Amino acid sequence: MSRKYTAAIVGCGGIGNSHMEAYNLVEAIEVIAVADPYEPARRQYMNDYNIPEGYATIEEMLDKAQPDIVSVCAWHLLHAPLTVAAARPSVKGIICEKPMTVSMGDANRMIEACDASGTKLVISHQRRFTAGWEKARELMQQQVIGQPLWMDCNVREGLLNWGTHAIDGARFVLGDPQVLWVMGAVERRTNRHERDTPIEDSCMGLVHMEDNLQLFIQSDLYKEPARSGGFLIRGTEGMLDVNEANVKLFNSTSNGWQQIPLRVEAAKIRAIGGETNAAQVRELIAWIEGGPEHRGSGYKARVTVEIMLALYESARQHHVIHLPLKEGEYPLQLMIDEGKLPVEQPERYDIRGFLKRDSIDEEAYTRLRNQGMRHHQAMRTLHGE
Ligand SMILES: NC(=O)c1ccc[n+]([C@@H]2O[C@H](COP(=O)([O-])OP(=O)(O)OC[C@H]3O[C@@H](n4cnc5c(N)ncnc54)[C@H](O)[C@@H]3O)[C@@H](O)[C@H]2O)c1
Repeated sequence: MSRKYTAAIVGCGGIGNSHMEAYNLVEAIEVIAVADPYEPARRQYMNDYNIPEGYATIEEMLDKAQPDIVSVCAWHLLHAPLTVAAARPSVKGIICEKPMTVSMGDANRMIEACDASGTKLVISHQRRFTAGWEKARELMQQQVIGQPLWMDCNVREGLLNWGTHAIDGARFVLGDPQVLWVMGAVERRTNRHERDTPIEDSCMGLVHMEDNLQLFIQSDLYKEPARSGGFLIRGTEGMLDVNEANVKLFNSTSNGWQQIPLRVEAAKIRAIGGETNAAQVRELIAWIEGGPEHRGSGYKARVTVEIMLALYESARQHHVIHLPLKEGEYPLQLMIDEGKLPVEQPERYDIRGFLKRDSIDEEAYTRLRNQGMRHHQAMRTLHGE
């Protein structure tokens, strides 16, 4: 059957499966090609999903397959070059994975390239489509807790990893308010990386928004109850406890904590994949066809990146960072290069690099897995656990 739009996946790893699952749920789309330099990975996708064309590079794939929509599913540092490469007039939409990127320079380049080619850019903060977050946003608009004052969340495995979802989700639930300044603190005493990107051991940040609303985020400081999708919001007239599948309200009429019914049963709500990612695709199609800006557009994700980078920049400069952030590079890398974050444990390790079991050989897998174990040991030693 000929579908209305064709799509291609760039990066045949873990998250690419969620994009495939979503495209398979959207009637209007047919996935016609994949691109991945690692031959076994693209071969596996072609076999598992019955995809006719596979290429080693994005350029060859774009030239030959000419897809309407491209999913960028490689690691963080490749998001900008792959998105810029895909921004061609023939490509109507791109869904690039989170974090959008790790520098404002790259975020701007991605947006400029897509604006120039007329390509709609979405960053996969797909949790904006979960029923819990949608209901929380609706309740906040109805001011069920009065004027919001304070929101906090606790995440782990790096700010760029879980933190991007949490900050983006907080902004979504609050109605994407304007961010005025950020103050942050960062610890990096081990040579920690996530998917090839240097990251902190732990950090925390205060994000000040319009109407004196503040978001507090902590990452990797204590284990429980770390939740990437969970927030507690305090307002002038009550509190809202939110995650992707659960919303509880406390105000003068709630008679204690009141469970708020969602449009989908909690057990059926998925933070990644399935209907969540499919809804993200459907909204992109509507945007391509002249509908409103996508709730997860590159323009919105750019602000989330700016907040995370401003947190690092605040730690680098030892003062509050007022937005817009002027630094165009990755401030954490700059801090490392400037000797501001000397490591006590210099051996490099990656907390996510080892997870893609079948994209590397046995020896590399064992080495990375062992480094992952050393990471847990190193963190326990540093934090006295
Ligand atoms: N939205 C979410 O909830 C979510 C969840 C998991 C991962 N992610 C993001 O998805 C991205 C990928 O993570 P993953 O866990 O799927 O990684 P992965 O290691 O499982 O897969 C990455 C794939 O990209 C391929 N690749 C490398 N260089 C490439 C290139 N130049 N062109 C095309 N393909 C290339 C690799 O060979 C590999 O197959 C990360 O940025 C991560 O943050 C997002």
